[in-house]
Amino acid sequence: MFQLPESPRSVTSHLSDLSCSPPKLDPSTLALLDSFFSEKAEEERRFSQIAAEQAAAKIAGLALEIDKEKEAGDKPMVSVADFRFAFSEDWQLSQFWYSEAFANQLADCLHSLCTPATKIAFLCCPTGFVAFQHKKKLEGARLFEFDQRFAVLSPSQFVPYDLNEPDVFPEALKASFDLVVVDPPYLNEVTNKQIAKTLRQILHPTNGKLLLITSTSVEDVLCEVYAEQPLGPLRKIAIDVEHKELANDFACWGSWDGAEKLSLELQP
Ligand SMILES: C[S@@+](CC[C@H](N)C(=O)[O-])C[C@H]1O[C@@H](n2cnc3c(N)ncnc32)[C@H](O)[C@@H]1O
Repeated sequence: MFQLPESPRSVTSHLSDLSCSPPKLDPSTLALLDSFFSEKAEEERRFSQIAAEQAAAKIAGLALEIDKEKEAGDKPMVSVADFRFAFSEDWQLSQFWYSEAFANQLADCLHSLCTPATKIAFLCCPTGFVAFQHKKKLEGARLFEFDQRFAVLSPSQFVPYDLNEPDVFPEALKASFDLVVVDPPYLNEVTNKQIAKTLRQILHPTNGKLLLITSTSVEDVLCEVYAEQPLGPLRKIAIDVEHKELANDFACWGSWDGAEKLSLELQP
């Protein structure tokens, strides 16, 4: 049956009803939003706290005319838990943080390969750097990273790094590292070739060890790109790589003789 359209008056009255009662979100959505904003606020608070502590340590260091390398030397590195609170993952930069348990086990494992004089670089692996330095600080540790947020963790140990410019890093770091840990952001050949270009320049040419953490989906690429010394040949290590938010099949490879025996179970 044909129906007459509503009169303009009745439409206006519907509109005024709408304007009187704004749309309401259901309680579960509100609870989600609430928890999102609380997490963001907590993240900002932790970040500001880390930045403020670093600034204070730097000022104290300057006042006492302490060597720049030691500007925050006595201050412990934040824990992996605090790092995770302060630095949310930026998925545009392919950031997927390790679980706390894995990062700490990895740190133990790496320390077993180091002496106080070891020079170790973490390429694209900030959680690895934090866990390692939190357990025990090494002056010769460096973090090569694109995301400048991490500079606040230890300004003198941060090396700005973009894998698209693989030759751009301080001259003093050439052939200087005994051990490099790398977790490339993208799972493809081009990324690995760029990273390998940097690694060939910063690893010690004869004694340098490489520990690579990445997805098994690029295993074929790895065998080609990291075939020759000091980057390879690679040996697969029996370590289960665990992320907080990623269920990808990741694994570890080492470039040195006996790397395959490096096992997390050996650690206390
Ligand atoms: C797959 S994540 C590895 C992080 C590691 N799972 C951890 O927990 O420390 C890759 C890292 O590469 C960094 N990255 C992204 N784009 C980059 C670029 N163009 N050059 C260098 N590093 C980059 C990201 O910021 C991120 O920290």
